[in-house]
Amino acid sequence: MNYQGIIHRYKDFLSVTDKTPVATLKEGNTPLIPVQGLLEWLGAPHLKVFLKYEGMNPTGSFKDRGMTMAISKALEDKSKAVICASTGNTSASAAAYAAQAGLRCVVLIPEGNIALGKLSQALVHGAEVFSVEGNFDTALTMVRAMSETGTVTLVNSLNPFRIEGQKSGAFEIVDDLGEPPDCHFIPVGNAGNITAYWKGYKEYHAAKKCKKLPKMMGYQAAGSAPIVLGKPVLEPDTIATAIRIGNPASWQQAEAARNESGGQIDSVTDEEILEAYQALASKEGVFCEPASAASVAGLRKYVHAHKDFAKSKATVVCVLTGHGLKDPDRAIAVAPRPRTVKPSVEAIMRELNI
Ligand code: F0G
Repeated sequence: MNYQGIIHRYKDFLSVTDKTPVATLKEGNTPLIPVQGLLEWLGAPHLKVFLKYEGMNPTGSFKDRGMTMAISKALEDKSKAVICASTGNTSASAAAYAAQAGLRCVVLIPEGNIALGKLSQALVHGAEVFSVEGNFDTALTMVRAMSETGTVTLVNSLNPFRIEGQKSGAFEIVDDLGEPPDCHFIPVGNAGNITAYWKGYKEYHAAKKCKKLPKMMGYQAAGSAPIVLGKPVLEPDTIATAIRIGNPASWQQAEAARNESGGQIDSVTDEEILEAYQALASKEGVFCEPASAASVAGLRKYVHAHKDFAKSKATVVCVLTGHGLKDPDRAIAVAPRPRTVKPSVEAIMRELNI
């Protein structure tokens, strides 16, 4: 079948009609990769672990699932411009879909804390980008105020159509595995995605597409962990800039997902995130951005703290929310440098010692 994107595939579960103009880059349908090389590192040889590799979406992150809906509905509402605050991926996605739809796109990013790949995307797609001297939370407060004037459509995950589209990730996992996993590990920033996945699982369950529900296991970065601490973090800090958020918009919905599913929301340190990031790349061949690796770092932390779980054959999905190429500076900072040699075959053979 000629794949046509998540709106076409899941229209029965989405608030669209035949008249909705669809903006799509054929997002979704991302690989669910079974883990092999990582099991020993995780310390859980019998777990069945799958990576939902959302970096394979058209702009390199899960945001495209929500953006196809948000931009299509903006077109339906005859909006002329969209606006968002972003740690990078939302702006990249909004800029791309707005470019296709012929809408103006206004983006507010936190000064100095956005990965290079993401910034280049927003700029090349022609968004009007403002770098705000403040953090993501400040930028989000500003775009909320600006959208209240009614002249621009907000496409952050406060826009319910974003959550609608993003729930399609849960549908795909169930369609692939036949049932939801026992545990669903996911990074948490502004908390829209954990909200969306839980909504998706519940809707599929209600529609009798599956018989059980997973435990939702969310992970914040230790320096930006307001939900874990139970209070906003005024100056969030982490190398995982995508989830450098101190006051998540969907805080309550994330807690509801955790409570209803019997899961947990915990934190992982930058060190744990970077270890998982490198292990994924070097043992599994999967390159994700640092924030994405929080799900796998969380799984490892959980395995180490729960011996029964470590020995079990539970099914686990870790969502890898964005592609590693988004943040090339981080990859270069953690990996070994290239070795400089003379243009001589012998010199390289000597270096390789083979
Ligand atoms: N992973 C990546 C790669 C992200 O870009 C984000 C959020 C998250 C995880 C967390 O998802 O916010 O739904 O809990 N990025 C937003 C942005 C904030 O502006 O691109 P969440």
